[in-house]
Amino acid sequence: MLIGYGEDSHRLAAGRRFVLGGIEVAAERGPLAHSDGDALLHAVTDALLSALALGDIGALFPDDAAENRARPSVDFLNRALAEVRGRGYAPDQLRAVVTLDQPKLGPYRQAIQENLARLLNLEPQRVGLTFKTSEGLAPDHVQVRTVIVLQET
Ligand code: C5P
Ligand code: MG
Repeated sequence: MLIGYGEDSHRLAAGRRFVLGGIEVAAERGPLAHSDGDALLHAVTDALLSALALGDIGALFPDDAAENRARPSVDFLNRALAEVRGRGYAPDQLRAVVTLDQPKLGPYRQAIQENLARLLNLEPQRVGLTFKTSEGLAPDHVQVRTVIVLQET
């Protein structure tokens, strides 16, 4: 068994789409980013890479490379998954904490959980999601922290 840990955060800005875990969230602001800014998929990608000490997302996808502009974050995730599977491991369970003041994510919990489960080939019950506000301490950003467990295949 291997454990991976990942984090990501993005500043929120007006006029940006808000995609989290591959699901579009209705919001007045969204993450400012070179890619699509999906902080949850970025954190999971880093967690996958960290489990095998493969560095981080920037090594695979430099954020100053033109081909990564507005790139769907699922590409990042799938590349990291391929690295993990190529070394004989597969995701077994995922936990993630999203800190965000607005909007409320509760209504999106099931859709995000099911999408992450589909992407990682897990049962939805193996994907635990926690949503927290910052209590107004960090109203302009979205922060994700995530732990993944891999099992040998
Ligand atoms: O941060 P706090 O513990 O006060 O969050 C209270 C509740 O709000 C939690 O149950 C959490 O699920 C929910 N929440 C949410 N969307 C957010 C932040 C918190 O649904 N963006
Ligand atoms: Mg990111």
